[in-house]
Amino acid sequence: MRIAFVGCGFVADYYINTLSEYKQLELAGVTDKNPERTTKFSKYYGVRAYDSLEDLLEDDSVDIVLNLTNPRSHYTVSKACLEAGKHVYSEKPLGMTNEEAKELVAIATSKDLQISSAPCNVLGETAQTLWKALRENVVGKVRLVYAEMDDAMVHQMPYKQWLSKSGTQWPHKDEFEVGCTLEHAGYYLTWLTTFFGPAATVTAFSSCLIPDKVNDVVLDPPNQPDFSVACIKFASGVVARLTCSIVAPHDHSLKIIGDQGILSIKDCWYYDDPVYIQRMLRIRRKVFLNPWKQKYPLVRKSPKLQSGGAQRMDFCRGVVEMAESISQKRPNRLSRDFSLHNNELVNAITSSLETGSAYQLTTSFEPISPMDWAR
Ligand SMILES: NC(=O)c1ccc[n+]([C@@H]2O[C@H](COP(=O)([O-])OP(=O)(O)OC[C@H]3O[C@@H](n4cnc5c(N)ncnc54)[C@H](O)[C@@H]3O)[C@@H](O)[C@H]2O)c1
Repeated sequence: MRIAFVGCGFVADYYINTLSEYKQLELAGVTDKNPERTTKFSKYYGVRAYDSLEDLLEDDSVDIVLNLTNPRSHYTVSKACLEAGKHVYSEKPLGMTNEEAKELVAIATSKDLQISSAPCNVLGETAQTLWKALRENVVGKVRLVYAEMDDAMVHQMPYKQWLSKSGTQWPHKDEFEVGCTLEHAGYYLTWLTTFFGPAATVTAFSSCLIPDKVNDVVLDPPNQPDFSVACIKFASGVVARLTCSIVAPHDHSLKIIGDQGILSIKDCWYYDDPVYIQRMLRIRRKVFLNPWKQKYPLVRKSPKLQSGGAQRMDFCRGVVEMAESISQKRPNRLSRDFSLHNNELVNAITSSLETGSAYQLTTSFEPISPMDWAR
């Protein structure tokens, strides 16, 4: 399958650096609305530069377009690609609104084309191992899941010095304006919907805790949430609490709580992160959780990736899934409807800033003094 990139920014390096794992994908070329970026990226990696998106879409040899543009460009770029008859693998989110995402899926369906959205870490070894353990019922009936997507205090970090391999700056303005939920909730939402099926309801709270996180640019909007917490009830009965933030210490952990024990991992950004199991123990009349965590064996060893850095994610795995599903004429695991459902969930959590109802307290009290001996 021949693929092409639209968007030669920070994430494009991650994609091209995992592409070498997959001989079945051939990169036809790249383009960016910023011609300097197209030239720099294409020269650095020695790949063809298309003059424009239109130029790329006229290339009949391209089967799948990877939409690696900024989230607010996803809809227009994906729509143009679908209308030109290309399959689309979009970076997250699929659409900034449900209407955008629904329209893209409707166009793709009417033209018998595929559209999927990143992330694809649910196709990784850690997620697939957890899922197998769940299918084998190793912790009994699952009642509750705690998933954390806290990305540390990003505003206090030297993010202006973060550069991709080919030298592009991390797009801090765009990241803060889009917000951590749209950017990162999908890394766990896609796992939860894969493991437990479609969600039925979501009750969320999201807020902007640090409006003045940058001093070099004016953010638009100025108050996109940098913290969110969502309680999701799945149609299957499982309840999950998902926290996303860029204001709390790094924590990407997951705990799946069943009647007979707990499955856990430390970080969903590592495809080969170990899976742990802690079982409930019964000794005489006492029942407690075994403090010793045992490793639940990974279903296979993760291929060693060339790209290192803050995470070990195989960015092209979702693209390969799409390419193979097309050539093998089988359903894509990251199907149009799966991507749409996760997009709807993510938008519901983000927009809870406006739609969530917060109870306003009506009483107050003066500060309390510490005990004299504790002053
Ligand atoms: N930055 C990361 O670490 C990271 C990691 C994983 C996923 N992502 C996702 O990847 C996507 C891109 O993020 P990024 O960090 O590479 O941003 P970026 O700003 O570094 O790069 C995006 C590029 O897209 C180009 N672009 C925007 N609109 C366009 C259009 N209409 N036509 C052609 N080119 C256009 C921009 O000029 C820019 O060069 C986002 O959806 C983001 O959520 C980013």
